[in-house]
Amino acid sequence: MGSEAKGLRLIILAAGRGTRMRTSQAKAMCLLGGAPLLEHVLDAMSGVSSRAPLVVVGHEAESVRAHFAGDKYGIEWRNQEKALGTGDAVRCALDDVGDDERVAVLYADVPLLRAETVERLAGVLKGGDGDAGDAEGADVAFLTTKPDNPYGYGRVVRDAEGAVVRIVEQADLGEEHADIDEVNTGVLAAYGRHLKSLVGKLGCDNAQGEYYLTDCIRLAVEGGLRVRAVVLDDGVQALGVNTAAELHRAERRLYRRRADELMEGGVVVHDAERLDVRGTVSAGSDVEIDVGVILEGEVRLGDGVRIGAHCVLKNVEIGDGTEVKPMTLMEGARTGRECVVGPFARIRPETVLDDGAMIGNYVEVKNSRIGGESKAGHLSYIGDTTLGAKVNVGAGVITCNYDGARKHPTEIGDRVFIGSGTQLVAPITIGDDATIGAGSTLTRDAASGGLTLSRVVQKTVKGWKRKVKGGD
Ligand code: UD1
Ligand code: CA
Repeated sequence: MGSEAKGLRLIILAAGRGTRMRTSQAKAMCLLGGAPLLEHVLDAMSGVSSRAPLVVVGHEAESVRAHFAGDKYGIEWRNQEKALGTGDAVRCALDDVGDDERVAVLYADVPLLRAETVERLAGVLKGGDGDAGDAEGADVAFLTTKPDNPYGYGRVVRDAEGAVVRIVEQADLGEEHADIDEVNTGVLAAYGRHLKSLVGKLGCDNAQGEYYLTDCIRLAVEGGLRVRAVVLDDGVQALGVNTAAELHRAERRLYRRRADELMEGGVVVHDAERLDVRGTVSAGSDVEIDVGVILEGEVRLGDGVRIGAHCVLKNVEIGDGTEVKPMTLMEGARTGRECVVGPFARIRPETVLDDGAMIGNYVEVKNSRIGGESKAGHLSYIGDTTLGAKVNVGAGVITCNYDGARKHPTEIGDRVFIGSGTQLVAPITIGDDATIGAGSTLTRDAASGGLTLSRVVQKTVKGWKRKVKGGD
C-alpha cells in the first residue's frame, strides 16, 4: 500500500486481564502456537507502518514489557491504569497522536489478522489510496465479518438502507438484535482528530460499566461523520481469543495456515490438520512430512527430506536426502546429506551428523559430531564425543561422559569398530581403525588398529543349582 500506509499509526490494545481464559497473566501473553498473542499481532503488522506501534498495557504490564525488552518492533508502551474498557484503553494511547494521522486500532487478542486487511481498511479513509467505493472516503472505518457463530462479538446494527447505525455488545444484546449475523472484528481506523473527539465523548452506561470503543461508531454516525464498515470474507482473520476453547480454535487455524503455506511451496503434508508449525520452516523440493509432526523454532529442510510420523524437531537443519524416521526428537542439531535418524532417536543440542551418518532406535546423542557414514544403530548414549568417519557403534554402547561433577570428552578416530555393550569412560581417545571387543569397559585410551578389550574370564560353576520356589 506504499507511502500512505507507512504514515499509519497502530494502537494495539493489550491491557486486558484474560478473565474468561482464567489466567493470572495478561491475556496478551497467552501462548498461541508457542508465541504470545501480542507477538502474533506485532509480527503480522511489522511491515504495515514505519511508525512505532503504540501498545497499551495494564494488567501485568511489567511482564509484558519484560518479554518484549529490546524488541525488534520498536514498541512505544502506553499504560492503562485500570481496565475500564477498550475505549478508555485507546484514550491512553492518543496523547502523541497527531490530528491528521491515520490510526488503526487492533486488539492483541485477535491474532490471525493479516497486514493487507489493515491496509485495506485504512485505505478507505478520506485521502486513502484504497477501495473507498466513493470519491470522498470515510472518516471512520471498521472491519466486520459474518462468522458461523456470532456469540461473544459486538453485532453491527444497520438501518433499513443498510447504513451502519451502531455496534451492540454481546452483554447488551436485546431480542431485536438476536438475528444479526454481522459482527465487529475489533479493527477500527480513523483520523487522530476524530478518534480523540469520539473517545472523549464515551460514557460507560452499559451492561459491563465499561467505556466501549465500539460506541464510537454510534457517536460518529450521530455526529455526521462518514462511517464505513468493511466486510471481511475470511473470518479466520477475525477470530478473537477470549477462552481456552477459542485459543484452541485459533491455534488450529494458525497451524492450518502454516501447513497450507508449506503445501503451496510444494511440500507433501500427509495431514495438514496434524502438523503443528510453531516456528518458521523453510523447505526444499521433494520434501515430505508425515502425520503428527511438531516443528519448532527455526527449521530448515533440504531437498528430498522425509520426516516420519510423530517427530518433534526444534531449531534443526536437515540436509538433502535425509530421512528422519518416526518418533524422533531433535533439537539444536544439524545433519548432512543422506543421513538416517530414528525411529525413536533423541538428538540433543550441538549435535552434527556428517553426510551419510545413521543414528538408529533408542540412541541419544548430545553435543557430538558423528562423522560421515558412521552408524550407531541401537540403544546407545553418545555425549560430548567426536566420532570419525565410517565408525560402527554397536548396540548398547555408552560414553560415560560425566563423573558426577564435570563432563569429559570422548574422541573416536575413523573406521573404528566398537563392540556392543561397551562403556567408554571419558576422557578417552580411541585411535583410527581400532576394534573394541564387545562388553568392554575402557578407562584408558585405545591405540590405533588392533583389538582392545577388557573382559573378565568366563567360567562355568559345574553342578551349581538354581534356587527354586518352595525349595529350601
Ligand atoms: C471486543 C469488542 C467487540 C468485538 C470483539 C472482537 C469492545 C467493547 N468490544 O469485545 O465488539 O466483536 O472485541 O474480538 O471493544 N483491553 C484493554 N483494556 C481494557 C479492555 C480491553 O486493553 O480496558 C484489550 C484486551 O486486552 C483485548 C482487547 O482490548 O486485547 C479486547 O478486549 P475484550 O475484553 O477481549 O473485548 P471483547 O469482549 O472480545
Ligand atoms: Ca476479545
